Amino acid sequence: MRSPLLMIPGPTNLDPQVLEALSWPSIGHTSPEFHEEFTELLYLTAKLYKTKKENVIVYSGSGTLGMEGAVASLIEPDDKVLALITGYFGERFAEIAEIYGAKVKRLVYPSGHDVNPEDVKEALEKDEYKAILVTHIETTNGVYNRVEEVAKVARRYGVLIFVDVVSSLGGAPFYFDNDGYDVAFAGSQKCIAAPPGAALIAISDRAKEFLENRRTEIKSYYFNLKRWLKVMKNPRIYLATPTIPILRATKIALKLLHKEGLENRWRRHEQMAKLVRKGLTELGLELKARRSSPTITVAKLGKPIAEKLQEYVLKSTTY
Ligand SMILES: Cc1ncc(COP(=O)(O)O)c(C=O)c1O
Repeated sequence: MRSPLLMIPGPTNLDPQVLEALSWPSIGHTSPEFHEEFTELLYLTAKLYKTKKENVIVYSGSGTLGMEGAVASLIEPDDKVLALITGYFGERFAEIAEIYGAKVKRLVYPSGHDVNPEDVKEALEKDEYKAILVTHIETTNGVYNRVEEVAKVARRYGVLIFVDVVSSLGGAPFYFDNDGYDVAFAGSQKCIAAPPGAALIAISDRAKEFLENRRTEIKSYYFNLKRWLKVMKNPRIYLATPTIPILRATKIALKLLHKEGLENRWRRHEQMAKLVRKGLTELGLELKARRSSPTITVAKLGKPIAEKLQEYVLKSTTY
């Protein structure tokens, strides 16, 4: 079968060992074998987030389902939320918060500009918020936000910080515990290099306390992190049938990631990004982001060049 070289943020090409895991014989989700594998997946995910196993949740679904789980579980009607929007996915985050009844104040940046932590400080001085929503790497324009600086401000003002790490986890430095985030979520199909279909979430002890002390019931069945935390503690509890082959393949992808070494992988992405940026700049193209990410490089193209490039990529993507 034709195997295209995927030069997109994700899904990515899969290692043969990951592909093989997708074809393993079926096992039941209540079997001891699956529970053992799932528990290992949780340990590997915690290592990726640089947090403890008790602080991670993995469920079937894409990155958006991780985003919705975080919002549905931790945002209550009329909560004031500050959304830092540097592109399409930042806006999606704000929209989901509104669906769950939040009063969202948007700080919208022109495409290509990253969040200025001073703006966040100013906003928190003016008004009280429960949470900040921010995207680590905005896939649509390659913007690389200094979320660790935003987290420092959030901590100073006692505000929860939610981070979308769909395009960064595994490819760019991210220290969940050290930098003091409250919730983060990723999808399996990007820097983790697994098939799409696993949402990987980290939740802080502080956020868990909020979860326990909500004023209202969570208005969702699947997107209820309280239920999922119970399943993570004891994977024998049935909540919904997991996409077993995807979760097993994600476990193999994470094993490979940790074999390479997380820091080595971050370094590899940075080196590759530097080369891509150099090449594009030498071609006379301008980069879109003021602070370019190590995982996605976006250049400004006129329509004729974009069409030619697309034609070239389509022709040359069989290996
Ligand atoms: C930054 C970011 N957030 C959220 C999403 C949504 O993730 P998914 O498509 O896995 O639902 C994406 C997908 O590309 C993304 O790049």
